[in-house]
Amino acid sequence: MPSKKVTLSVIKADVGSYTGHNRVHPDLLQQAGESLEAAKNKKIIIDYHVARCGDDIDLIITHHHGVDAEVIHRLTWDTFMACTAVAKRLHLYGAGQDLLSDAFSGNVRGLGPGVAEMEFVERTSEPIVVFMADKCSPGAWNFPLYRIFADPFTSAGLIIDPKMHEGFQFTVLDAKKDATIKLSCPEELYDLLIFLGASNQYMVTEVHRRTDGQIAAVASTQKLSLIAGKYVGKDDPVMVVRCQAGFPAVGEVIEGFSFPHLVEGWMRGSHCGPLMPCAFHEANPTRFDGPPRVVAAGFQLADGQLVGPVDLFDDPSFDEIRRKASEVAEYMRRHGPFQPHRLPLEEMEYTTLPQVMGRLKDRFKAGKQ
Ligand code: F6R
Ligand code: MG
Ligand code: MG
Repeated sequence: MPSKKVTLSVIKADVGSYTGHNRVHPDLLQQAGESLEAAKNKKIIIDYHVARCGDDIDLIITHHHGVDAEVIHRLTWDTFMACTAVAKRLHLYGAGQDLLSDAFSGNVRGLGPGVAEMEFVERTSEPIVVFMADKCSPGAWNFPLYRIFADPFTSAGLIIDPKMHEGFQFTVLDAKKDATIKLSCPEELYDLLIFLGASNQYMVTEVHRRTDGQIAAVASTQKLSLIAGKYVGKDDPVMVVRCQAGFPAVGEVIEGFSFPHLVEGWMRGSHCGPLMPCAFHEANPTRFDGPPRVVAAGFQLADGQLVGPVDLFDDPSFDEIRRKASEVAEYMRRHGPFQPHRLPLEEMEYTTLPQVMGRLKDRFKAGKQ
């Protein structure tokens, strides 16, 4: 008899925080836990874990309903609504900010929350890592995903593990055109990088192992600015990676974050800064609303039960990487309102350009004055 598939859903939203956009209030986390505990008791879900990174609540859920299941999306929507009610009661900042609609219509995609879901047959031992980031956009995953699944200087398994040696296939979304392309590495590595390097437009949505087509990673790729047509908060993405025994080892996956690369986000979603990997308790983007943070929660699945989490960046060997991120943050900050610290005009989430231009347009004269 074929083994039953399990679905892992990670669905996140910012529904209010304190102080300002800094962190989730414990009462919201408690509310989220109570909502999901009730669903677990009713056997709608197998298990859950409520996490947070900065001002975002991350609902990590296992179940048997498959991806995009209405029952799970409704559960997370209702959970975020319940948390919003708590946030409103406490007058928290930005209460309900990521819930872009008053009405749920079967699926939270397009309504504001970020979604990363995968369905697979659980292996005898199934180690997974859930990454959660704050103050950045989904393009932030391109760099580590490339390193984890295509760079042998990061993942030794690409060379010496027979199941990984054939490489991985990347599915890449063009967020502006809403179209995807599948590219296989190593052969199409240079083609892949022309897209992945442009992380404001192209984002990895999924990675599959080529030997057997097994899903290896899935990332949330909702861009709130494209959904809403105006600034409603950064996307603050999540990602799930399966590890070990023919997938990259946990250490190879974590190694993908050993360089604090520059990402879009930070203050007002309009700046470029380093992504700092940190322990759960340090996921509080304070300086200039940043710098952007990422946490890594490791789990073992046991018939769908989430055994964990392990706080994977809570490791002194990441201290130097955090120090480097702080140094880069300081260097970038010294640019003030100048690019490349401030994003190009078309990428900023806030702008006064139309008003300023409206006032000054008649003072522009053709050619040099
Ligand atoms: C970035 C973010 C914050 C806010 C900033 C201004 O994703 O959430 O940096 O953009 O604190 O917030 P408002 O406009 O709400 O005062
Ligand atoms: Mg916020
Ligand atoms: Mg956030």
